[in-house]
Amino acid sequence: MEHLKKLIDEAKKDFNSCGSMTELDNAKSKYIGKTGPLTEAMKGLSSLPKGEKPKAGAFINEIKKSIEGLLSARKEMIQNEELLNQLNDESIDVTLPGVKRNQGSLHPITHTMNRIEMFFHSIGFTLADGPEIEDDYHNFTALNIPEYHPARAMHDTFYIDDEHVLRTHTSPVQVRYMKNNKPPLKIISPGRVYRVDSDATHSPMFHQVEGLWIDEKVSFANLKGVVQDFLQQFFEDETLSIRFRPSFFPFTEPSAEIDMSWNGGWLEIGGCGMVHPEVLRQVGIDTNEYQGFAFGLGVERLAMLKFQLNDLRPFFTNDLRFLQQFRA
Ligand code: FA5
Repeated sequence: MEHLKKLIDEAKKDFNSCGSMTELDNAKSKYIGKTGPLTEAMKGLSSLPKGEKPKAGAFINEIKKSIEGLLSARKEMIQNEELLNQLNDESIDVTLPGVKRNQGSLHPITHTMNRIEMFFHSIGFTLADGPEIEDDYHNFTALNIPEYHPARAMHDTFYIDDEHVLRTHTSPVQVRYMKNNKPPLKIISPGRVYRVDSDATHSPMFHQVEGLWIDEKVSFANLKGVVQDFLQQFFEDETLSIRFRPSFFPFTEPSAEIDMSWNGGWLEIGGCGMVHPEVLRQVGIDTNEYQGFAFGLGVERLAMLKFQLNDLRPFFTNDLRFLQQFRA
């Protein structure tokens, strides 16, 4: 029996050399497993004389308890080490620099459109919308521009198919709105429009804001007043030089272009006029009772003047060095 005492030292050495719970489990079975030396010794008790059995049994149990004590002490150590390693692996270095998020801002054209909308909202205009892929009828025919009419050549049109175009202006929204609503009508319609056009003052995609006011007595004087008030507020300048230049649009009569002084000359910022009686008839409005005006402003042109630029194309090339200058 005395040889069993040596097991305690052996187990101690063995357990201390184990670095993980798996290794410790394997080592444990060598000493207190089903086939280990202590189990064998217990089995051997039956062959001892009756008087020696209790003493020998107690001795084996003592040794077993000592080994179990060593085992649980080592187990606790290994578990603590493993926990510590896990905590180290998962630790966060709070001194590392944070993830930088860039501050976003509105695109200068969006910002310009918001300002335009705010002004017209303040004088009672509501918002209307229409499709960017428009049919030939609403983009041209209903606006008094019949097929084969030379006025179609005024717009360099992107055709989708024989009957559909990318709308060349926001004026088709006038037609859609007048068809679905009874006068008096007072709307603006901002949105994208498209033309085969590109130079410093022309972009293939640009924005217009359409305006339409139909009532019993809306006159050209009202048109001039509304446009002038808008421009003075937009540019925050009451001495602004604006020019209404007589022009031609098939859907207004009389018609004018609105120009603003720019680089010692004039820059056209929009077209306008009194809605042509033929257009009103097309949408079923009684021309003896109602009349009104319409205008279409070029948003990029207004932004160009506001920000004092000579070229509108950089608005759409997505160069942050350019766009960041207009953070609002
Ligand atoms: C029209 O588009 C008419 N629908 C405007 C109108 C509405 C007249 C209601 C009467 C009644 P125009 O083709 O002139 O008109 O275009 C209007 C404005 O859009 C121009 O004055 C200009 O400011 C702007 N514009 C035209 N083409 C471009 C372009 N390619 N890039 C940027 N702005 C443009």
